Amino acid sequence: MERDFNFNVLDVIRNRWSSRSFKKKQFTLNDILPLIEAARYAPSAYNEQPWFFLISVTRQENEKVIDVLSESNKLWAENASAFIIILARKNFSHNNSFNRWHFFDAGTSFGFLALEAENRGIAVHPMAGFNHDLLIKNFKISGDYDPVTVIAVGYRDIPDVLPEKIRINEKPGLRNALSSIYKKIEDI
Ligand SMILES: Cc1cc2nc3c(=O)[nH]c(=O)nc-3n(C[C@H](O)[C@H](O)[C@H](O)COP(=O)(O)O)c2cc1C
Repeated sequence: MERDFNFNVLDVIRNRWSSRSFKKKQFTLNDILPLIEAARYAPSAYNEQPWFFLISVTRQENEKVIDVLSESNKLWAENASAFIIILARKNFSHNNSFNRWHFFDAGTSFGFLALEAENRGIAVHPMAGFNHDLLIKNFKISGDYDPVTVIAVGYRDIPDVLPEKIRINEKPGLRNALSSIYKKIEDI
């Protein structure tokens, strides 16, 4: 099965997908900062901008990140060039009340980051498969923040470089039909 598009959407939306194979290439902070810049311009409730990004590019930093990943993610993510951990601040800064949109806004920032990455030929793959408590401990995350996702970053490589058991899944994810995900309000 191939991906299908009913309308012409931006090329970066059409072409982005969560690949798992990465070329061996050292990244620097400067390779990552344009992605954070894009994330920074995501909209957020009350313009709270609850996101915070931990960036890893050196081998030592990357090993620390890989340590907190699930075993199934370690299989492929150990070849990523860099990682970005997204954190979301739980409370509003203006009155310290709970910000129920903090995850939504952090997710939006990932969307912006991912499309900017695609625009630059960089592949990003978000992960929920990490040890939440270990990440909080190892990276000294304050209780004010929730870890949202760990993102593997690199230049996409051919599937052949992956271990055989995960190679067959190395293709863009499919989607539910457009007609199945909306309803006109008058039809409720
Ligand atoms: C919040 C979030 C968590 C995810 N966690 C994982 C993960 O732990 N491991 C993994 O291989 N992919 C993970 N993915 C990638 C999804 O499986 C992928 O986005 C989905 O299958 C759609 O495919 P596509 O991104 O190629 O379009 C995650 C994606 C999101 C948005």
